[in-house]
Amino acid sequence: MLRGYEGVRYISDKQMVVFDIGSAYTKFGYAGEVSPRGIIRTEVRCSESKKIRRIIDYRDVEDLYQLLVDFLHLLFFKYVVISPKDARILLLESPLAVTSFRNTLAKVMFRHFEIGSVLFLPSHLATISTLGIDTALVLDVGYQEATLIPIFEGIPILKAWQALPLGGQIVHENLKKYFRDTSDLDLSENIVEDIKIRTCFVTTLERAAKLGTENALTPPPDVTYPGIKRIVIPGKIREKAFEVLWERDNDNLSLSTMILDAIVKCPLDTRRILAENIILVGGTTMTKGFASRLKSELLALIESDLYKTKLKIESFKFHTAPSKPNYTVWLGGAIFSTTDLPLRCLTKDMYLKTNRVPDWSNLIDNQKDETSYEI
Ligand SMILES: Nc1ncnc2c1ncn2[C@@H]1O[C@H](COP(=O)(O)OP(=O)(O)OP(=O)(O)O)[C@@H](O)[C@H]1O
Ligand SMILES: [Mg+2]
Repeated sequence: MLRGYEGVRYISDKQMVVFDIGSAYTKFGYAGEVSPRGIIRTEVRCSESKKIRRIIDYRDVEDLYQLLVDFLHLLFFKYVVISPKDARILLLESPLAVTSFRNTLAKVMFRHFEIGSVLFLPSHLATISTLGIDTALVLDVGYQEATLIPIFEGIPILKAWQALPLGGQIVHENLKKYFRDTSDLDLSENIVEDIKIRTCFVTTLERAAKLGTENALTPPPDVTYPGIKRIVIPGKIREKAFEVLWERDNDNLSLSTMILDAIVKCPLDTRRILAENIILVGGTTMTKGFASRLKSELLALIESDLYKTKLKIESFKFHTAPSKPNYTVWLGGAIFSTTDLPLRCLTKDMYLKTNRVPDWSNLIDNQKDETSYEI
């Protein structure tokens, strides 16, 4: 028989806390667990203005510092419920993150909260540990942007990285614009997101090719979104909302060209293996029809003049991680933090001495100098 306290897990002082602070959602939990304890919006009630503000809307570095102090306070004392002083944190970060954001976050953690040590872990590398593989092409499509890094035998091929401002945000903006223009409705971000997730989907390549032309196929039915004011979402909009991710911009770039461009930049003998080991992470990849559309886009592009001569790849295969794509990165961090590998923890003492955060993609920080960081 289960006694009441058996479900309560003892969190030892030494156990790492794992954070994935995304531009829209923050995932938090403990090392070695299979799912995050919670996923919250990356926003906080600003202590000065008393308004709810998203962290990504910071005006300057001072403003960001204050927002992060308020946000981490909320995270530590309301959600994670640990004393931040001398805690050990694993922080998942995009290798393409803005340096000023990273430095400010480190300053808040070490100087304001006096955290014991922080391990900055590149999110794409963490992701592959959920599958126990060492070669993969990781595409993260979250809120603000889509980022891609191929990893071969555990080494990220940095020269092949790709990033485009394609994610949930651009879909929301288009939906908001549609409702503003057609029915004079100024919908909040939360409602637009709810409408998007509940009613919109990624259509097939064949149907998309005919969208907006004379031969357009019958659109899916209109649906009514309930609320104080009932909002009708036309079938056409439900089908078209995600098209912005696949339309090629002025430079001929889209989500699918990101994958092919990255493969072209990788050494010849790695290309086929990478194409057969694609991992999709990030909340936007959870949209219905996303993976199959991506696959048909890739197969169509590979036959097009743009890539026919450059690439000889016949198939693309996708992995299924043992988690929902929106927290696969977090899970990778939670697995990684249970190993004895955290060699590159930045300790409070080291930070206070050097006042800088090592950049893992910088050669200087990769030199085997045992005195640099705690081993
Ligand atoms: N089931 C779903 N279907 C469609 N979209 C979804 C679903 N779940 C979440 N999303 C979308 O995924 C996005 C958030 O994904 P994610 O949590 O990976 O972003 P993030 O990590 O905060 O952003 P980023 O990695 O860009 O900083 C939001 O735009 C949300 O609307
Ligand atoms: Mg993310």
